[in-house]
Amino acid sequence: MRKPIMAGNWKLNKTPNETIVFVEEIKPLLAGVDDVEIVICPPFTSINVATYLTKNTNIKVGAQNLYWEKSGAFTGEVSGEMLKELGCDYVIIGHSERRQYFGETDRTVNKKILSAFAAGLIPIVCVGETLQERAAGRIEQVISTQIREGLKGLNAREHGKIIIAYEPVWAIGTGQTATPEQANAAHMLIRKLLTEILGEAAQAVRIQYGGSVKPDNVKELLAQPDIDGALIGGAALKADSFEKLVKFGR
Ligand code: 13P
Repeated sequence: MRKPIMAGNWKLNKTPNETIVFVEEIKPLLAGVDDVEIVICPPFTSINVATYLTKNTNIKVGAQNLYWEKSGAFTGEVSGEMLKELGCDYVIIGHSERRQYFGETDRTVNKKILSAFAAGLIPIVCVGETLQERAAGRIEQVISTQIREGLKGLNAREHGKIIIAYEPVWAIGTGQTATPEQANAAHMLIRKLLTEILGEAAQAVRIQYGGSVKPDNVKELLAQPDIDGALIGGAALKADSFEKLVKFGR
């Protein structure tokens, strides 16, 4: 059984003060939820206050990026060790916005995944095709390259805890969600690839769907057998909406 994991990717939203307001609002709303894993991923500047305020609660904190070196002359970068010390459990790696705007590649994604594990963080690795790639019938090729290159050097014993987020680029922030069947087909493909890399451990890997997940479509998406959670942008920024997403099964 894979425990569903619902994660809010805040992207470039919420100052530390806004984070305090959100966390104080969401804590009582989600108190007692133990059948779903709950994660919020604020910007670096809000992580300290988020981990402090969620200590000993059922809400975990993730970062949105990291750098693969532990320390050194890398102006502007943050290491996995730094995030771990702040109380992070997760880190999003290779989001399509980072690939598109900040030059991330499958090679940098791979280095980041390995360094996240080395720091004791669980990576949430994002993959997904663009509209153009889908139209050209290249979904399988694109996802397969992202998974094979991105996950190089991983082995089941050490790294079976990895989380994959399938986020079709055309569905992010557009209101255009993949249908539950489209999403599940991609998730099945990902699990097949993971089985080649990790063997039996692939059955335990949680694969999230991301891209315009909202309270009114979350239930049918999560009802699919290979969809094990969601990575949510816009709809995770308001407490009442995030509560509904986390409680999708009720
Ligand atoms: P939206 O939910 O706003 O479409 O964003 C999805 C996403 O990119 C989560 O990482």
